Amino acid sequence: MQGSPSRSAQPRNPLHGMTLEAIVRALEAHYGWSELGVRIPVRCFTHEPSIASSLRFLRKTPWAREKVESLYLLMLRDARRTERPRRPLGTIAPTTIISRRITMQISQESLDQLFLKARTANGFTDQPVDAALLRKVYDIARMGPTSMNTQPTRYVFLTTPAARARLVPALSPGNVDKTRAAPVTVIVATDTRFHEHMPQVWHRPGAKENFESNPALATATANRNSTLGEAYFIIAARALGLDCGPMSGVDLAKVNAGFFPDGRWQANFLINLGYSDDSKLFDRNQRPSFEQACQVL
Ligand SMILES: Cc1cc2nc3c(=O)[nH]c(=O)nc-3n(C[C@H](O)[C@H](O)[C@H](O)COP(=O)(O)O)c2cc1C
Repeated sequence: MQGSPSRSAQPRNPLHGMTLEAIVRALEAHYGWSELGVRIPVRCFTHEPSIASSLRFLRKTPWAREKVESLYLLMLRDARRTERPRRPLGTIAPTTIISRRITMQISQESLDQLFLKARTANGFTDQPVDAALLRKVYDIARMGPTSMNTQPTRYVFLTTPAARARLVPALSPGNVDKTRAAPVTVIVATDTRFHEHMPQVWHRPGAKENFESNPALATATANRNSTLGEAYFIIAARALGLDCGPMSGVDLAKVNAGFFPDGRWQANFLINLGYSDDSKLFDRNQRPSFEQACQVL
């Protein structure tokens, strides 16, 4: 394997000319010690942190120094993304390709919140969900990948008891009480005419016409990507501290008749959103093991 060229030979490397001290000071100014300790859980950031003790540790711990440098690059990248003026759709700035590599694993705490300790809510507390939070969840979820950036998922947020009461006749009996208790129920739907938006969301011309002339492709694309979008929505909601109770125990024909009479949007399933009443959780069920579910070829 080739050795990496020295930093002195890389004047365009953002680390060029940066001392470790300058990097640590910049990170501390940007994130603060406590956030730094979450992102890179090393003792010098989590216990009585100081610049001097951090430098002592990092100078003799190459793996930790590497993580610190990676986080510094990530910080610069995020700053660039915030400042960067909008480019025409579909053009790629070559300088951002390199910096897009995300090198940091998210913290254990975040993994717990998204997956490992997250549970499907089966009942909800009275705590309301701020309307602004719904917009935030969507703004995160929409960034998940879909084929040709088709993004066919659509959402109807039912935020009042009256709006949710319209759903009740369609629900399986076991889903009624928790839907009444949830501060928000989302009807997640598929836009069967998603391709009308292709000129906005896809950089190559002809995509709209391509789907229009091939209904089987359009339907398969809509179904696959709509469900993906719904999964992103659940993860985004969890990332913002919400609990989700997805439900397919619902008569979709009734939901469609009640909410989407023109037939363009088609309900896929529902998600109750709010803050879990953990006293109502089911026991956690097993997941298939790696050996049962995966092949490595
Ligand atoms: C698409 C989908 C549909 C579901 N439908 C229902 C439902 O109709 N009623 C219900 O009580 N739970 C429903 N669930 C909840 C699942 O049973 C639950 O997410 C799963 O058992 C994992 O639970 P855990 O996250 O607490 O481990 C549904 C989940 C998903 C993702």
